[in-house]
Amino acid sequence: MPENHVEPKDRSAARSLLRLWPYVKPVRIRLFGAAGVAVVASCLGLVIPLVLKWIVDGPVAHHDPGGVWLGALYLLLLGIAEALLFGLRRWMVARPLAGVEASMRADLYRHLQRLPVAFHDRWASGQLLSRGTTDLMLLRMFLAFPLTFLLVNATTILAGFIILLVQQWTLGLVLLAPVVPLVILCSVFETKYALVARKAQDQVGDLTTVVEESVLGIRIIKGFGRHRSQALAFHGLSQRLRGTELDKARLLAGIWAFITTIPELAIGAALVLGTIQVADGDLSAGTLVAFLSTALALRWPVESIGFLLAMSQESATATERFFEVMDVAEEHETAGDVSAEPSGTDGMVFEGVEFRYPDAEAGSVPVLTRIDLRIRPGETMALVGATGSGKTTLTALVPRLHDATAGRITLDGVDITDMPRERLRKLVSVAFEEPTLFSATVGENVLMGAEGAGEDDLRRALSIAQADFVHDLPQGVDTQVGEQGLSLSGGQRQRLALARAVVGQPRFLVLDDPLSALDVHTETLVEAALRRVLESTTAVVVAHRPSTVMLADRVALLSEGRISAVGTHQELLRSNAEYAWLMSGAESSLSAEPTAYEAAEDTLAAYVSGDGARAMDVPAEEGSAR
Ligand SMILES: Nc1ncnc2c1ncn2[C@@H]1O[C@H](COP(=O)(O)OP(=O)(O)O)[C@@H](O)[C@H]1O
Ligand SMILES: [Mg+2]
Repeated sequence: MPENHVEPKDRSAARSLLRLWPYVKPVRIRLFGAAGVAVVASCLGLVIPLVLKWIVDGPVAHHDPGGVWLGALYLLLLGIAEALLFGLRRWMVARPLAGVEASMRADLYRHLQRLPVAFHDRWASGQLLSRGTTDLMLLRMFLAFPLTFLLVNATTILAGFIILLVQQWTLGLVLLAPVVPLVILCSVFETKYALVARKAQDQVGDLTTVVEESVLGIRIIKGFGRHRSQALAFHGLSQRLRGTELDKARLLAGIWAFITTIPELAIGAALVLGTIQVADGDLSAGTLVAFLSTALALRWPVESIGFLLAMSQESATATERFFEVMDVAEEHETAGDVSAEPSGTDGMVFEGVEFRYPDAEAGSVPVLTRIDLRIRPGETMALVGATGSGKTTLTALVPRLHDATAGRITLDGVDITDMPRERLRKLVSVAFEEPTLFSATVGENVLMGAEGAGEDDLRRALSIAQADFVHDLPQGVDTQVGEQGLSLSGGQRQRLALARAVVGQPRFLVLDDPLSALDVHTETLVEAALRRVLESTTAVVVAHRPSTVMLADRVALLSEGRISAVGTHQELLRSNAEYAWLMSGAESSLSAEPTAYEAAEDTLAAYVSGDGARAMDVPAEEGSAR
């Protein structure tokens, strides 16, 4: 399991919840105002027994029906005032708290955008999703309800006990007796509940991950008839969550049983003692009525404490889960030598580059070792290697999706770690193996590749990528694509991704196998167009087929994380057995898969990318569907 399953350590709920202060601060006046209103409303409830006492000892004792009616009117007014005040409280907190939730969610999203790729590699997306939804909703509810009512109930109980003790201190003490065992029980409950609450919330995250994966991978699930096993896996997880929720309910039921019974017993005892005192003439009937109704009025504030504590515990957990993500450092900007302008004479240079994934075991062989490579200005270098040799990893280092663990990469003489990321990413354009489109129009998806690019750039990029199919879409470049729009075939998406990479006319271009999903005919067209782009840029192109390799001036062969040969296609074909082997096998399958397992994996990948057509030997263009 990834480390997002943090064992709840020794921590206090209050300390966790205090971290919410920066978000609550802007609405503090309203929130505390509302709490004040609630305290007043709740304490008004305590006046009711005093009016009762006045009715019993006054009008009732003196047989004065008018006085009784007057007392009833007072009671009615008090009840109405209490209800109105609680309504006012609700109105006061609703809007500001929705704002708090929204701003926390926006912060989380913004932070997620800035976290390094390594973070996203490590964290399950469902865990992030559940933190951004369920956990934040819990926090809003906490601020609206338990936070206020813990305060309100504490004040009410305190005021109530003072009234009780003033009325008849001996009876008051009888009621106070259960406080000590209850406090102990509550603290035991809290510790236990914290553990289960954390477990439940993590399990919700796991469940979210499964749902998300199966929605994204629905083609694979259906294609391989896995819906039953997938449903079973889901059932298993949801049973686990159900078990945890039942544990929570059991704990809550347990504490609730004590919290309700113990005070009832105390009230019973007080009733017996009080009745004896009234019979002996030591106490007025009115005082006993007032005493008991005060005690009964305090029942709800006391009973609700277990429930409020449980909610606070869950909110503390939600806060922790929120800050676990927020506390991860964003991609740090090295205060580099910004003044160093690329001179335009050095091209792209890898010097002794070594890379190991952050989650790799210490002491394992690095994915890339001693990469020394110089791509001259304007040159195109093809990167060839077997599956798993590290080609994708190498291309990810240039835009700094990961940072090299040793050595350096320079662009026109400037170390990429000395450049502000924003500038680096303007200088370098990338197209990845998996062409991702967002829920936006075709035009917006392509123009994402460069800030400030206009209509002309869009047209040029689409024509370079041979993406003319765009003009046949229902609304041309304004057609919605992505999850919420038209589905495109893998080949179509690759061409849009390519257009996105070239739209800003970047100085450096990094293409990770950009033509893999194209049919042979389209590939030739794209290659012809690409040739024009590559003339003016310094580029690295991961390639599998001789036809793509031909676009490059030179070829670097990557085997097991090392550059084992550099030269022209012809030179390497003659002198390097591995290269010749890779290229000869390349015509029949797209990449040189040494094992059947990896071949199957590639078919899967084709399915994942929505390009089921290719996997079934149907021209890619047929694969489009809504
Ligand atoms: N995010 C990652 N975390 C850990 N290991 C990875 C990650 N991505 C790839 N690898 C490993 O790095 C090696 C090289 O992968 P990759 O660069 O994708 O190869 P290629 O693109 O040449 O097929 C593989 O052994 C792969 O298992
Ligand atoms: Mg790859």
